[in-house]
Amino acid sequence: MRYGYFDDGAREYVITRPDTPLPWINYLGNQGFFSLISNTCGGYAFYRDAKLRRITRFRYNNVPHDDGGRCFYICDGDVTWSPAFLPAKTPLDTYRCRHGLGYTVFEGEKQGVKAELTVMVPMGAACELQKLTLTNISDEKKQLTVYGAVEWCLWNAVDDSTNFQRNWNIGEVEIEGSTVYHKTEYRERRDHYAFYSVNAPVAGFDTDRDTFLGRFRGWSDPQAVEQRISYNSKASGWAPIAALRLDVSLAPGESRSFLYRLGYVETPREEKFSAPGVIHKTRAHALLSAYDTVEQYDKALNELKAYWTGLLGRFTVKSSEEKLDRMVNIWNQYQCMVTFNMSRSASYYESGMGRGMGFRDSCQDLLGFVHLIPERARERIIDIASIQFPDGSTYHQYQPLDKRGNADVGSGFNDDPLWLVACTTAYIRETGDFTILDELTPFNNEKGTEAPLLEHLRRSVNYTVTHRGPHGLPLIGRADWNDCLNLNCFSNTPGESFQTCSNFESGKAESVFIAGMFVKYGKEYAELVDRLGLRDEAKTVLAAVEEVETAARTAGWDGEWFRRAYDAFERPIGSKENDEGQIFIEPQGFCVLAGIGGREYGVKALASAQKHLGNDYGLEVLHPCYTAYRDYLGEISSYPPGYKENGSVFCHNNPWVTLAYCTLGDGNGAFDLYTRNAPAYIEDKSDIHRTEPYCYSQTIAGRDAQNYGEAKNSWLTGTAAWSFVAVSQGILGIRPDYDGLRVHPCLPDSMDGFTASRIFRGVRYGITVRRGEKKGLVVDGKPAVGDLVPLSAGPVCTVTVTI
Ligand code: GLC
Ligand code: GLC
Repeated sequence: MRYGYFDDGAREYVITRPDTPLPWINYLGNQGFFSLISNTCGGYAFYRDAKLRRITRFRYNNVPHDDGGRCFYICDGDVTWSPAFLPAKTPLDTYRCRHGLGYTVFEGEKQGVKAELTVMVPMGAACELQKLTLTNISDEKKQLTVYGAVEWCLWNAVDDSTNFQRNWNIGEVEIEGSTVYHKTEYRERRDHYAFYSVNAPVAGFDTDRDTFLGRFRGWSDPQAVEQRISYNSKASGWAPIAALRLDVSLAPGESRSFLYRLGYVETPREEKFSAPGVIHKTRAHALLSAYDTVEQYDKALNELKAYWTGLLGRFTVKSSEEKLDRMVNIWNQYQCMVTFNMSRSASYYESGMGRGMGFRDSCQDLLGFVHLIPERARERIIDIASIQFPDGSTYHQYQPLDKRGNADVGSGFNDDPLWLVACTTAYIRETGDFTILDELTPFNNEKGTEAPLLEHLRRSVNYTVTHRGPHGLPLIGRADWNDCLNLNCFSNTPGESFQTCSNFESGKAESVFIAGMFVKYGKEYAELVDRLGLRDEAKTVLAAVEEVETAARTAGWDGEWFRRAYDAFERPIGSKENDEGQIFIEPQGFCVLAGIGGREYGVKALASAQKHLGNDYGLEVLHPCYTAYRDYLGEISSYPPGYKENGSVFCHNNPWVTLAYCTLGDGNGAFDLYTRNAPAYIEDKSDIHRTEPYCYSQTIAGRDAQNYGEAKNSWLTGTAAWSFVAVSQGILGIRPDYDGLRVHPCLPDSMDGFTASRIFRGVRYGITVRRGEKKGLVVDGKPAVGDLVPLSAGPVCTVTVTI
């Protein structure tokens, strides 16, 4: 069952009823100011850092789930309604929510009044704009009272939801005309404030939440709204809000638009006050006058749309598969940009208060957006490398605001360093920019420790070389990609973090998955240094790769599939010798795509994965699921069977297998797996899947779960990047390489070909793939060798591939 439809022409998903199974959200903003917005206008805004600079308040696990956010009330006679259905909950005559790229539109109608509310964050500005257009479609004059309201967060989202003995004393606002300024803590060390404003004279306002709402009420039925008045309350402590009231009269057929601006301003310390205790508002005034008219608004929206058209125009495909095209051209790339911006920090499920940017997550996310914004990818790589330690290991996470490693989580995740190689080589292959390797980058952000980025990569590789266990396989440390396979943890204390507890440093537990990574990325590193003329180093690394490859082919092979690991007592994990958890997906994906054991092992491993792990939505993490807690495995066995790392389809790792199929040239296998969980392909199952049909979720409950097929944790997942790599580089086969673009499609029998347009190093490549007798590659009319399209002088290059 569906709750809306894709409008590919407009690049929107149109939701046709407010009661989607879960809030279906969108992301606004892509530089400093960010907002999340649901299909009922809930959500929250923050500046750069969802923990430290939260602008509006959001209650996770609220009842109802999606209360608050942007609260609009239209009062027409006795009836009060909201254009996005919430918060008023009055049934609407018509409702639509259109989530577009960086903007969301609500269209609501009630008893002869039509409201269109468009919400966006303009390019390069620290504000959210909300344009509300009201049209009287009845035959009578309408006299409306209109409220727009937001609730301020007291900046630090953690303190805001915990430290009430302080919070209830510090709230401060200033009111100036139609603008409410939120200035809590500005009196002391904060040099920033926020504001909410409307571009019309207000009839009244409220800034104290409890006055506005009244006792025993919530955002669905504020007392002020019920009475059609404002108390003009001035918040002092408690919970400051901004609620602005307009009186609007509309003749039949008349339409009026209002612009609400939610802004964030930083002031230089010397300029903080214009009079004792009064904030300096020059910068806010400038922001307000930049977005004061409908024309200015429309211009900003057009700029935003043009930005996305330009960005997504860098890679487009047209094939007989409408859903694949929709994912590739619009939604998958869009989600890649969102994960670039957010990592795993802020969604409806990631609270933005805990994890900052993950090392491995950010490196992998980069694979999905490097072709879109290479300059920002470059900067990101340097930021990430700067939290590495001199021995090659690294902090696992960092906070986006100060870019420092997070000491609470620390290091010890032994896959982390290798992901730096993955993203740096991807960046250079995309851009040809080898100078990044010379970029002086500190270790642990310490001045004086700077070394060229290449040295960071070298230490990453050496970290694996020097951290190997009894079978010659890489040591796993606290965990590898699978955060929950904690083989040195042995936690028996409730609540203890499985990721940071390591009370049993065995020095023995090994990972076959990291072996797969090392074979792939060790080879990539060797190729890179070889290109730099460092032949001896290349040889030394390849020798280590060979050792690890041999270990993976022997100790890592179980007969029918790759084993997962060896535990602290040197016992195999992910083996038929085990009673549960006999086979895991990660090594089947990574070892096969790394080419370990060649075709013979590859075909066997993937067939086994399909046989034991396959379900309607992809491949589960492991089988059979663990039915009881085992301290020698850690968190993985803490989850009930079928959920999360204990046997859900953990979507992130499925594209590895799709790519593994492509390595083996199996287009049917690749496409079948790709379509099992690509959102557009499962839109019809939205009632079972429950999360948004236009973006990937982290997990889909496995066969052993009660709610088999239900997805969780939408939006912030490495699935976005890897799925894009799998479909664009694997199935469509368009792969950037040092000396040109490789085109090596791996299509299912059901596809005859496709056309694609790809900007690569400033040249637009027009690619046509078709089936035919005379196989081969033709570049600008001339036959070429193998699958390499050599770098073209441009500006366009025509490529035809016959398969
Ligand atoms: C989460 C983490 C990611 C990890 C994965 C598997 O998605 O963000 O780093 O690899 O879980 O445990
Ligand atoms: C939990 C989750 C895992 C995530 C980790 C991050 O272990 O199961 O997916 O990566 O937390 O800390």
